[in-house]
Amino acid sequence: MPKLIAKGAEASLFLEDWYGYPVVRKHRIQKPYRIPQLDLKIRGERTIREARSLSSARRAGVATPIIFHVNPDTATIHMEFISGPRVKEQLPTLSEKDRRRLFKKIGKAVARLHKHQLTHGDLTTSNLLLPSQDIVYFIDFGLATMTQNTEDFGTDLHLLRQALRSTHYSHWETCYTAFEQGYKSSYGKDASAVFRKVRAIESRGRYISERIR
Ligand SMILES: Nc1ncnc2c1ncn2[C@@H]1O[C@H](COP(=O)(O)OP(=O)(O)O)[C@@H](O)[C@H]1O
Ligand SMILES: [Mg+2]
Repeated sequence: MPKLIAKGAEASLFLEDWYGYPVVRKHRIQKPYRIPQLDLKIRGERTIREARSLSSARRAGVATPIIFHVNPDTATIHMEFISGPRVKEQLPTLSEKDRRRLFKKIGKAVARLHKHQLTHGDLTTSNLLLPSQDIVYFIDFGLATMTQNTEDFGTDLHLLRQALRSTHYSHWETCYTAFEQGYKSSYGKDASAVFRKVRAIESRGRYISERIR
């Protein structure tokens, strides 16, 4: 019997048996406010985008679930089930040292994605799984893009920074600092240009929020 493991705004995810393997079936659901034909097209495109990006990330050396089957007509992906908690729930239970270690690792992995011209598009701690202490799996690539633009990499990091600030209020600074260290060590000297973009995006945001106050 398939078991519902998550239901988001865009997709329902089920744990199923696939010829003896535990798999996750991610099914993008219909949006009632979209014209049906357009809706199917969008869901199909995001499904393909996610499957391709999961594979590209894996080729870049970042851990992602193996894909078993993709069907854009039903907007479904069958992928390897990764057994373990999400970083979101695990983070508060870790020691300061382990939190730093983890985020350094996450930083290195994101730099690897960016060096292969891939942005994740939704870097939050709900999209990182921890089957063991030493390995972080990246999931949820439906908004990933192929790009060479430093601004896009900056946006990816800005979103992560915002997500950490809002979800992990008491640890976000330690985590983000460790992340930066990991990212810089793996991305190389051009990393400073990416972080300049992050700061520019932040100050633009501050300027807008002050103007509308
Ligand atoms: N391959 C997987 N193995 C284990 N759990 C998964 C897997 N893929 C997704 N999940 C779980 O389902 C949740 C939602 O999946 P996700 O791909 O992030 O979809 P959404 O777009 O709804 O956020 C994740 O936060 C995670 O808990
Ligand atoms: Mg998600």
